[in-house]
Amino acid sequence: MDSWIRIFLIVHQLLIQGYMNDNRYCKEAVQTVKTVSSCPTSKEQWDKAASKKKCWEKALKQNCTILDNFVYHCVINGYGNTTLEVCAPKRIILGHCAEFNEVGGVIQDQQLSPCSDVFPKCDHFYWSSEAFKYEDCYKLVEANEITTTLTTVKHVLSNETIGGIIKG
Ligand SMILES: *[C@@H]1O[C@H](CO)[C@@H](O)[C@H](O)[C@H]1NC(C)=O
Ligand SMILES: *[C@@H]1O[C@H](CO)[C@@H](O)[C@H](O)[C@H]1NC(C)=O
Ligand SMILES: *[C@@H]1O[C@H](CO)[C@@H](O)[C@H](O)[C@H]1NC(C)=O
Repeated sequence: MDSWIRIFLIVHQLLIQGYMNDNRYCKEAVQTVKTVSSCPTSKEQWDKAASKKKCWEKALKQNCTILDNFVYHCVINGYGNTTLEVCAPKRIILGHCAEFNEVGGVIQDQQLSPCSDVFPKCDHFYWSSEAFKYEDCYKLVEANEITTTLTTVKHVLSNETIGGIIKG
């Protein structure tokens, strides 16, 4: 696509996001949240999961966004400790992993996870409905689990060490 058209479309979408309700709490989206153990990482898998979730039916019963924008997503949650499926207004994500924030009730940039050349790899801008392209963003959940486990292990070890020193 001609890059000026692309830029125009992005600016257009960002204006819609700013002026319309797409960045506000969407009750109908929150009601569709289901935690899942993994997310689709290809267009084919994504479309298959989307046809099961039937977001178009729910799209008719919401006022959060225009009909076509209320679509299937599989993204991480706001804490980055699980993956979830949700029907929600799609949004443009700017240089971060995409999250569905259950408190805010919106799809948005996960501020703690900026895209990087190393990890997580993702693009400067993309539609949240194409999150399947950025597998690293799903891997953040595992990475966070490992960090939590390591912190616990560290605490146990340091307690044992301290205990040992006191006893010894
Ligand atoms: C959407 O808005 C219309 C008009 O304001 C209203 O009649 C309808 O009940 C709303 N639907 C939902 C699901 O909020
Ligand atoms: C994720 O983290 C939040 C806040 O620490 C916690 O309340 C929630 O239970 C966690 N969820 C999972 C699936 O671990
Ligand atoms: C380690 O010791 C601290 C302080 O005594 C305590 O608060 C913490 O729960 C202990 N952690 C573990 C994993 O035993």
